[in-house]
Amino acid sequence: MKYSLTDGGLDELRTPCLVTSLKNARRVARALGEQTLLARASQDFKDSVDQSLVVNLAGKVARLLIIGGADDAMSVDQFRKLINAAALAVLKLPIKQAVVALDATRVKGKTRDWKLQSLMHALSHHAYRYGKHKSKPAAAPSLTTVRLHVANKKDAAKIARHGNALDVGLAFCRDLGNEPPNVCNPTYLLKEAKKLGRHPKVSVTSLDEKKMTAKNMGAFLSVSQGSVTPGHMIVIQYNGGKKSTPPIALVGKGITFDTGGISLKPPAAMDEMKYDMCGAAAVLGTTKAVIEAGLPINLVTVVAAAENMPSGIATRPGDIVTSSSGKTIEILNTDAEGRLVLCDALTHVQTFRPKTIIDVATLTGACIVALGSHASAVYANDENLAQQLLAAGQESGDKAWQMPLWDEYQSQLNSNFADVANIGGRDAGSVTAACFLSRLIDGVNWAHMDVAGSAFQGGARKGATGRPVPLLFSYLCEQASQA
Ligand code: BES
Ligand code: MN
Ligand code: ZN
Repeated sequence: MKYSLTDGGLDELRTPCLVTSLKNARRVARALGEQTLLARASQDFKDSVDQSLVVNLAGKVARLLIIGGADDAMSVDQFRKLINAAALAVLKLPIKQAVVALDATRVKGKTRDWKLQSLMHALSHHAYRYGKHKSKPAAAPSLTTVRLHVANKKDAAKIARHGNALDVGLAFCRDLGNEPPNVCNPTYLLKEAKKLGRHPKVSVTSLDEKKMTAKNMGAFLSVSQGSVTPGHMIVIQYNGGKKSTPPIALVGKGITFDTGGISLKPPAAMDEMKYDMCGAAAVLGTTKAVIEAGLPINLVTVVAAAENMPSGIATRPGDIVTSSSGKTIEILNTDAEGRLVLCDALTHVQTFRPKTIIDVATLTGACIVALGSHASAVYANDENLAQQLLAAGQESGDKAWQMPLWDEYQSQLNSNFADVANIGGRDAGSVTAACFLSRLIDGVNWAHMDVAGSAFQGGARKGATGRPVPLLFSYLCEQASQA
């Protein structure tokens, strides 16, 4: 979807469709001399959230899409309902362009810019389709361009720019997630990452398995060694800020398929383990959004891309490996592979001297048990960072919830034979996975997001959600505005 802004009087508009409140619709119909038509058409219309009505006119405005409840003051949740209903209704119409004028809708405690961002996010979310592998894909929405009406578009260019950037980043993330695992393997992720390097402020490099061996990345390699497709440690650097400013770092788990390895997973729904690279997809999508928006920040993004397969040369339970941090790890379960690839990625990213590190991973089934799909889990060694991420989640509607990273949990990772075990037993599985990662962090602000429940949906509505791209992009926009 392409977004732009428009201002001026609604009665001067020329558009195939105006999406607006009943009050505005009446004003426009009157100006076009169509008030009788509208009065008759809207006779039985219930002006409340979740109701909408299409009225065809003959004039400069070819149709009105009236959104119920849009003249009332409302809560954030009601507004989200309203814009979701508006997005779904407008996407059903056989039109390429529309003007959306819901700017008079008042939301308690929220600014015009928040309302516009939320609206664009809802439209982008609902417009997304993934049909490329069907010989006859279901018809996609014809709508491609939306003009957002504001009272005055002076000083508002940034809003549309950010909406367009999030649209592109979200779709990129979801496409990567949905791609089947025989297409989206570590090499494919590297190829997609390299495309970002066409931008003048971006450089993309990677470590292949030979280079990782030289850097003693035994934790990462213990995962990728069982697969015929070699792993890659991908690094994307975006320099949008001052040269001297330390970067913010994003790190993503990119397991393009997780069979569990020798600790093989049961077959039911194993196909969903193609989504085990959704952390990588999210940091790549966020990076793309940051580049598109031209945010004045420095960003370094690291993707740990590997496939977790069983084979004659795969890691065995009981194997002990040495990570690039120097720590030895006893691998008691080869299905706890995410923390192994992230281990060397987190060590590597610290060589870029970032001021903050955020890693994103579909790390544990236990996270789904704890939070379901509604919230991503946030762990942090810095309370301020945790609060900033939670706030970004609220702001963007891409919610997160903080979990404990207390020392009490660390002893579950004790090993009889190595510095640390890669599993911590049944209790608090998402917490002990975060505890494992925390051991690799050395004096830098760090947060870990477990998105096993939020990054994709299973079952009948199977698909990548694009989360937590909205949260991360919102966080980075806030960092940029403070720079
Ligand atoms: N990729 C899985 C976690 C996962 C499960 C993500 C379901 C999304 C949906 C991860 O690699 C894994 O297998 N974790 C194990 C850890 C256990 C062996 C300690 C798990 O959650 O069972
Ligand atoms: Mn696993
Ligand atoms: Zn996994």
